[in-house]
Amino acid sequence: MRQLVDLVIFGGTGDLSTRKLLPSLFQLHRHNLADRLRRIVATGRVEMKTSVFRDEVRQNLKQFLPGGSWDESVWATFCDRLHYCKVEADDPDDYRELSRLLGEGEAPGRLYYLATLPSLYGEICRQLQGAGTVNDASRVVLEKPLGHDLESCRAINEQVGQVFEEEATFRIDHYLGKETVQNLLALRFGNQLFHPMWNNTFIDNVQITVAEEIGVAGRGSYYADTGALRDMVQNHLLQVLSLVAMEPPASLKAADIRDEKMKVLRCLEPIALDNVKERTVRGRYAAGAVSGKAVRGFLDEDAFHDAQDTETYVALKASIHNWRWAGVPFYLRTGKRLSSRYSEIVIEYRRQPFSLFANDPQELTNKLVIHLQPEESISLHTVNKKPGLASKLKLKPVELHLTDDSQNKQDSYDAYERLLLDAIHGDQTLFMRRDEVETAWHWVDSIINAWQENGTPIKSYNAGTMGPNAATALIAVDGRHWHE
Ligand code: BG6
Repeated sequence: MRQLVDLVIFGGTGDLSTRKLLPSLFQLHRHNLADRLRRIVATGRVEMKTSVFRDEVRQNLKQFLPGGSWDESVWATFCDRLHYCKVEADDPDDYRELSRLLGEGEAPGRLYYLATLPSLYGEICRQLQGAGTVNDASRVVLEKPLGHDLESCRAINEQVGQVFEEEATFRIDHYLGKETVQNLLALRFGNQLFHPMWNNTFIDNVQITVAEEIGVAGRGSYYADTGALRDMVQNHLLQVLSLVAMEPPASLKAADIRDEKMKVLRCLEPIALDNVKERTVRGRYAAGAVSGKAVRGFLDEDAFHDAQDTETYVALKASIHNWRWAGVPFYLRTGKRLSSRYSEIVIEYRRQPFSLFANDPQELTNKLVIHLQPEESISLHTVNKKPGLASKLKLKPVELHLTDDSQNKQDSYDAYERLLLDAIHGDQTLFMRRDEVETAWHWVDSIINAWQENGTPIKSYNAGTMGPNAATALIAVDGRHWHE
C-alpha cells in the first residue's frame, strides 16, 4: 500500500507559504492529485488556533489562487487537512507538541518543508530528531537560498546531513518545476531533429535571459546582502544552463540526470580576477518607469540606502570547457525593474558558410527560442523566400511555433505544484543534489571575490530599460547582440 504523508511547513504563515505553497497544495487537492497527502501542518512562531489559521488561509487563497480556481466545495474538504502548530525553532517543548500532533492516528511518512531563514535549517533538523519525529520515511525540503557562499552552504548541508540522508533531502529550485524547463528534456532527447546539431559545430551561442519587472521593495535584509548573482544566477540560471548543455543521461532517473548536470557545472570555466572585467557586468536600477508607472531607484528605497555594493542586474559570458561546447559562449543576464517580464533560452545557430541571397542574412540566423514565461512556448526561427515578383530572391524571417496551445492552457500549473507533488512522491529528479549546489557556489564565489578584489563598479540603468549599456557591449565585442 502506498504510504500517506504528513506535510509540515516551517514558515507556514510566511510569504512563500501564503503566496505559493498553500495555493499549490489547494490546486493539487482540487485536481485529486494529493491522495498521498494526509495532513498539512503549518508551523509559525505565534500562538494561533487551527480554526483561526484556516480562516486566514481561506482569505489568502482567494487572493493568491489563479483567477477562477477558488471553489467553495473544494475548500470544504481541503480545510480539514490544514492544521497549525506554534513552533519556535529552538524550543524543544514546541517540537514535543508537534510530535504529539503528528503521532495522532497512523504514523505516515513525513515531509518537512523548511521555508524559514536558512540559518535555522540545521537547528530545526536537530530539534526534529531530538523530538523523535524523524524516521526512515521522513524527508526534508530545503528552500533557497542555500547559504550565502560555498562555506555557509556547506555548513547547512553538513547540519541537515546529520539528520537526513541525501536521498531524503530535496533542495528546491522552482525553475526546475516550470513546464518548459522540463520540456527541454523532451525537446533535446525526444527529437532526432535537434540533437545531432546540439553542439559547437552548429550552435554559435546560447543566451539565457530572466528579466523581471518587479523590484526588491519589501525584501530589505535579504536582498541587500544578496544581489542578482547570488539570488538568480547561482541557482535558476545555472540550473537552466546545465539542462541545456548536459549530455544525454543514461536514463531519466534522478541520479543519471543529476550526474550529467553536475558534469556541466564542473566544466564551467572559472571567472576570476584575470577575466572578470570582460566577462561580467553588474548593474543597479535608478528611478524610471515600468509599464508606464514611475518607480524609485534601488538606493532610494529606505531599506537599501546603504546597499551600495548590491547589484540588481548581472550579465555574464560563461564558457563550458568540454568537447561539445568549446568555443560556444553562454550569455546569461537577469535583472529587476527591466522593461518587461520574460524568461527565455535562445539557441542561436551558426550562419550558413555562404549566402546566395540578395538581402543580408546577418539578422536571419536560425534560432530556437524557448520561452519559459510569461507564456510557455517554443519557436524555431527560420527563413523563407520573401513572397512577390521581385527579380532578386530575398529572404524573410518565419517563426514556426512548436507549442500545442490548447494543451498548454488546459494543463498549466505552477512550478510549486509539480515540485510539491514530486517531493510527496519522493522523486528527486527536479531537485538539486548537494554537489550541484556546492559546485555552483564555488563558481559564483570566484566571481564575487574578483568583483571585490578589483572593485568592479556597478553600472546604473534606468528602471524600465533592459539594463546597463555595458551589457550590450559585453556581447557586442563578440559581434553579437541580445535576442529581443
Ligand atoms: C526567486 C528570487 O528565487 O525567483 C526572486 O529570489 C525572483 O528574486 C524569483 O523574483 C523569480 O521567480 P519567477 O518564477 O517569478 O521567475
